[in-house]
Amino acid sequence: MLSSQKRSQLSQAAQKVAQLAYAPYSHFRVGAAILGEKGIYTGTNIENASYGLTLCAERSAFAVAIAQGEQNIKAIAIACLDGQMQQSHQGNSLMPCGACRQWIAELAPNAEIIIVGLDQTFAISDLLPHAFTLNP
Ligand code: THU
Repeated sequence: MLSSQKRSQLSQAAQKVAQLAYAPYSHFRVGAAILGEKGIYTGTNIENASYGLTLCAERSAFAVAIAQGEQNIKAIAIACLDGQMQQSHQGNSLMPCGACRQWIAELAPNAEIIIVGLDQTFAISDLLPHAFTLNP
């Protein structure tokens, strides 16, 4: 469990980087902040005219963290500035997409997942039960 101070620091970092989103097509700005052993790594969504090449905020933050040698990711905060909270589905457009859930399962299986705007935090097993894995 993260301290509430660390959790709010990570949430703020995600909200801040979301403002730098390159999202001219969807206008949906997302930021992610990853807490590793050595520090915090941020990423934002980067869209492309060839829509399928779009990179999500979470995966862009993971690329930075991994390139800095982080192997023990403790938490990830995700902020969708233009997302909406719908109680009945625990957040809907605030929640990470399926591809990013698979990345979390791969690279941060023990991370606390913080969704900015929701009170509860999640484990990846909550968001991606029975995840596909291989034994490397
Ligand atoms: N997006 C993310 O960055 N992360 C997610 O988990 C969901 C979707 C981005 C991709 C695209 O730029 C925009 O949000 C709309 O789908």
